[in-house]
Formats: sequence, C-alpha cells, structure tokens
Amino acid sequence: MDFQLKTLSLPQAASEKADALIVLASNAATGAKDALSQILAGARKAGDLPDKVGKWVTLYRPAQIAAQRVVLVSIGDGKPASVRTAVLGAFAAVGGVEPKRLAVVFAQPADALAVRAAVIATADASYVYTATKPKAEARTVKHVVLGVADAAAARTAFDEASAMVAGIEFAKEWGNRPANHATPSMLADAAKTLADGTRIKCEVLGPKEIAKLGMGSFAAVAQGSAEPLRFIVLRYQGAAKGEAPVVLVGKGITFDTGGVSLKPAAEMDEMKFDMCGAASVLGTFKALGQLKPAINVVGLIPSCENMNDGHALKPGDVVTSMDGQTIEVLNTDAEGRLILCDALTYAKRFAPSAVIDIATLTGACVVALGGVRSGLFASDEALAGALMAAGEQSQDRCWRMPLDDEYGEGLKSNFADVANIAGRAGGAVTAAKFLQRFVGDFPWAHLDIAGTAWKSGSAKGSTGRPVGLLVTYLIDRAGAAPKAPAAARKSSRQSAA
Ligand code: BES
Ligand code: MN
Ligand code: ZN
Repeated sequence: MDFQLKTLSLPQAASEKADALIVLASNAATGAKDALSQILAGARKAGDLPDKVGKWVTLYRPAQIAAQRVVLVSIGDGKPASVRTAVLGAFAAVGGVEPKRLAVVFAQPADALAVRAAVIATADASYVYTATKPKAEARTVKHVVLGVADAAAARTAFDEASAMVAGIEFAKEWGNRPANHATPSMLADAAKTLADGTRIKCEVLGPKEIAKLGMGSFAAVAQGSAEPLRFIVLRYQGAAKGEAPVVLVGKGITFDTGGVSLKPAAEMDEMKFDMCGAASVLGTFKALGQLKPAINVVGLIPSCENMNDGHALKPGDVVTSMDGQTIEVLNTDAEGRLILCDALTYAKRFAPSAVIDIATLTGACVVALGGVRSGLFASDEALAGALMAAGEQSQDRCWRMPLDDEYGEGLKSNFADVANIAGRAGGAVTAAKFLQRFVGDFPWAHLDIAGTAWKSGSAKGSTGRPVGLLVTYLIDRAGAAPKAPAAARKSSRQSAA
C-alpha cells in the first residue's frame, strides 16, 4: 500500500479522484461555501452527523465531488485517540465496497499526533494477512492520499507514521504466521533481511555459540524441540559509534506448548503468538531503517520453541544461567523468563543507556490489564515516564506496575539460587521480579504484552503492538539528543522520502 501526503483544502478535496473520500471533521465549523463544506454543515445542522467521535454519514456520488463515495466522520477534539476511532469507524462504513484508491482528508488543521494517528489507523484498518492463504484476496486498498491543510508542515509526522506502519506491519506479519512458517531459523532469516549494509547489521548465533556463551537457561528451554534455537543480534547505528545504545530484548518463543508442564488444548494455537515480543523488535528495526533517527539501538532476540520430547526440561531441573545464577525450573511453562534472563545478561556487554524487554510473558498480565494497556515495569522513573508518554502519543498504551522487593520473596528455592515461579498471586509482577535479578546497573523496563500483542476470537490476529510505542520512544529520544551533523541529516531525509 502506498501513502501520499498532499495539501488539500476541502474545495481541493472535492476534485480528488478516489473510490472513497473520508473527511475527518472536528467540531470546529469551517463556514466555507464549497460543496464539501456545505454538505458537512448541512449534515451537522440536520443532526445526521452528531459531534460524537466516530459517528459517520455516507454519501454516494454527490454532485460536484470527484470521489465515488464520501464518508463524513466526526473526530471531536481531534486528539489522536479520537482520530483513530473515527478512521476505524469510517472504514466500517466503506468496508463493503473495498476501495482501491482512498483519500483521507482533515477538514480542519491537524497537529502532528493527529496526522500520525490517521496514517496508522488507515493502515491498521486495511491490513490483510495472506502469507498462508494464497487464494485469499490481498489488501484491496492500494493507494491512500492523506490530505492536510499544509503538507510541508505535516511532512515529518507523516514520514514518521509511514515508518511506523512499515514496522507495525512487519511485526503483524511475523506474529500472524503459524509456528511451522515462523521457526526460530525463519525469524533469523527475516532479521537478516533488515540488514542494509550501512546502518543495520545482523548477526545470528546458533546452539554451539549459545553453549559457549554459557546461556544454560535459554538452551534448556530449547532442548525439547527438533528446531534449533537462534539468538539474533541486530544493531542500528544512527549516532556516533561511542554513544551508548538502547537495547531492546524480544521474547521469541515461536511456539509455547508449556513443555512438560503442558498447557490445556483449548486455544493453544494462540501460542504461535508467543514470539510477538521478538516481532516487535524486528518491526522497530524495520521502522528505524526507514526513518534513520540519530540514535544507536541494539535488538536481541532469543528464539526457540517450548516443546516436549525425551530431551525436554523437567519440573525440578536446575539450570545455570549465563551470569552464573542457578534456577530451579518448577514450571516449564514459565519459559519466557528463562530465555530472557540470558539475553538480559548478554545486554550488559553493550554498556546500554537503557534496556527494554518486550514479552508475551504472563497470563496474569492479561487478567490484570486485559487487551487495552500493556504492563509496564521499570526500575527507573525517567524511563518509565518516557515509555508511558510514548504509549499515550502513539495510542499504544501501557500502565505502570509495581516492583516492590516483597513481590520477589516467593521466588526462593531450596535447590537453586532462584525458582522460576512464585505462587499464583501477582503473577505478572513476580515474573518481572525474576527478570530484574538479571538486569545490570542501567535503567531497565519490561513490557508485558501478553494481553495486547494479539486479538482472539473472530478478529484473531497480531496487533503489531508495541511497535508504535517503541518507535515513538526512540524518535523522541533521538530528538532530545544532540543533533547529528547537517550532512547526515540531509541524506537521511532524502532516503526517507
Ligand atoms: N506465553 C505464556 C504467557 C501467556 C499466556 C500469554 C496466555 C498470553 C496468554 C507464558 O510462557 C506462560 O505460559 N506463562 C505462565 C506462567 C506461569 C506458569 C507462572 C502463565 O502465565 O500461565
Ligand atoms: Mn509458557
Ligand atoms: Zn510463553
């Protein structure tokens, strides 16, 4: 799908050829006399277009308007959340006709966050999964024009949003693929496609290297599977070489049976999504490659299956992690933390400015927060604040959870330094406390995306979250850093266009 940014006033939008024209109308009336403004004013006056966010009215081939169909939709205050709701609602209104060419136009001036929200919601609403459905119809929307009052002023926000869309869709794609089409080796190959020979480098380690590094905890989870594990190391260099990177660590369990502590059969298929943390790291790198912000980022992805065979890890087994702590595996289904702890230890070698791990870690987090907000755990106030803010800005929200030391008490073991589970109570927090034991002396945050990474039921599918949050955070951080030399900025802008 191809997005184009244009300066379009409502009179200009009237002559924009499209299968459908979506007009995002805030509650500020325009008062102009052109056809679209008058229809809008008329609909408002007649009560056919209430000022409530997401309310819409459709028109078929209205006089003096080039588009086949017009959807007028209310965006109320024009905040990103309202824009998102409105775009999704308008899609429901035109959905039946499957437009190829779409124009989405703001009736009033829109700020940067509203522009981002419109682009991302348009992409979200039109995404279609086809990788293992060769006969299915591909995405019908091929071309989208985003009309704003001043395209030059909206350019940066638009480019950022386009990069986020590329990243979100990369994450959705890999999240959605079934486990036999998304093995650890396939994920590693997908990561290699992100390397561009200049800013992004990718290195993949296999079982031998992992054994040599002493990642006994990660290797133990992989040992019951016929698929060899992979450890993916991605590096994005957008700032000076010596600048400390942000390290992103993504849980890449390509299928989670629970292991010997087997999961129940119902909905077990959804455990193909247990690599959505990894997919969000890949998606973030996809966006970085397109946007080229002035920041250094490292992506670490431990990836394997959690399966059962004669070699599988057993409850009670004690494994030795890369940092030397021994772990009693009381439940083989608490495997995410077992692969992440070794990746967190590995992160120390980058002397990071911050480490953020992203994981579909606990069912308990789904119980606590549902599918609206991801769980955010952070050892550092500034990092927590920045991630919360990035979540609000990108409509990819999270909610701060506690890390009091008392929550870690249940992890005591009689046979190892630590057990991999505590009691049922506060399960999302005890999992985070386990991870915290492996974090070095740098700001750390953990995002539990178990409830937000995918949807169940008839809309079953990956959401691409939290790519929007992560990219927003990284852009903000790059923007706050000292500027790159002018030459570097210029070239990055050219190639982003
Ligand atoms: N991948 C699951 C977490 C999960 C469960 C995500 C359901 C989304 C929906 C994770 O590996 C897991 O199995 N966690 C266990 C931990 C427990 C054994 C302490 C859980 O949440 O049940
Ligand atoms: Mn599990
Ligand atoms: Zn899992």
